[in-house]
Amino acid sequence: MREHVLTAADFVYPLFVADGTGVDRAIAALPGHQQRSVDRLPEIIDEIVASGVFAVLLFGLPATKDGEGSAAWDPEGPVPRAIRLINERAPGLVVMADVCLCAYTDHGHCGLIGPGGDHIMNDATLALLGKAAVTYAAAGADIVAPSAMMDRQVAAIRSALDGHGHEEVAILAYAAKFASVLYGPFREAAGSRPAFGDRRSYQLDPANGREAVAELEAAVEQGANLVMVKPGATYLDIIARARDVVRVPIVAYQVSGEYAMLKAAAAAGVADERALVVEQLLAFKRAGADLIISYYALELGRWLERA
Ligand code: PBG
Ligand code: ZN
Repeated sequence: MREHVLTAADFVYPLFVADGTGVDRAIAALPGHQQRSVDRLPEIIDEIVASGVFAVLLFGLPATKDGEGSAAWDPEGPVPRAIRLINERAPGLVVMADVCLCAYTDHGHCGLIGPGGDHIMNDATLALLGKAAVTYAAAGADIVAPSAMMDRQVAAIRSALDGHGHEEVAILAYAAKFASVLYGPFREAAGSRPAFGDRRSYQLDPANGREAVAELEAAVEQGANLVMVKPGATYLDIIARARDVVRVPIVAYQVSGEYAMLKAAAAAGVADERALVVEQLLAFKRAGADLIISYYALELGRWLERA
């Protein structure tokens, strides 16, 4: 009479793709994860396919950064090259590409900085997100995932994609994305820590539930094919509310800080790691998540296979 089960196909595995060759660098803040150059991806891609995980989510570490993050739409950048390699090596694996500027800008913010350096230029950023999304679509991404939290980012990306003949590429909108302290390890992994200030002017206030629902509805209205709630465990109420109001699939992101906390708890002997992780992620599904992005995805694939 179990209402929910976890399967490997419920999961998406994040990958950090670095420019250059021969790069395979451990990420201290995310034990078990690496920054890899494209030539070092084949082995992990084969493991991901064998695990039964549904998709990969790609983040790029470019060779150079500038004020507008122009490496984000370089067709020879790490993400487009990784997409081409994965499609060749594992045609059945769904490829998602994160669309944002923070790993590509020298200031580390998700949007352009306005004159005076004290605000983000929302509307000027939209065109750049559109260019990045078109670049990943042209390389063969199945799904683009805008994470910048700029207002109207989904509408802008949908029209950029359609205008370039990529009607078939879906949009996963990071819609209910909170300004969380749990993104720290990710920013080390992606090299995207803001050089000044914080992201509270464009990410959601953790105190605001209604606003999160409004963001989810707005993303769907703009054409999002899937919507995301992020982080996961501290926002299960938002997942449950989303399940009641939107009809598209809901994706929950178990973020880097959640992963690091669980790893630390397991290492401290609080509970058996597998049992701890399975209970956490069952809660995501019970709340209403259709798909879960997790740094545990690969381990889970192996654990569940043996269950
Ligand atoms: C920003 C982005 C973030 C994450 C993915 N893309 C958050 C941030 O830096 O503000 C976080 C993912 C994680 O912590 O695992 N575009
Ligand atoms: Zn960003």
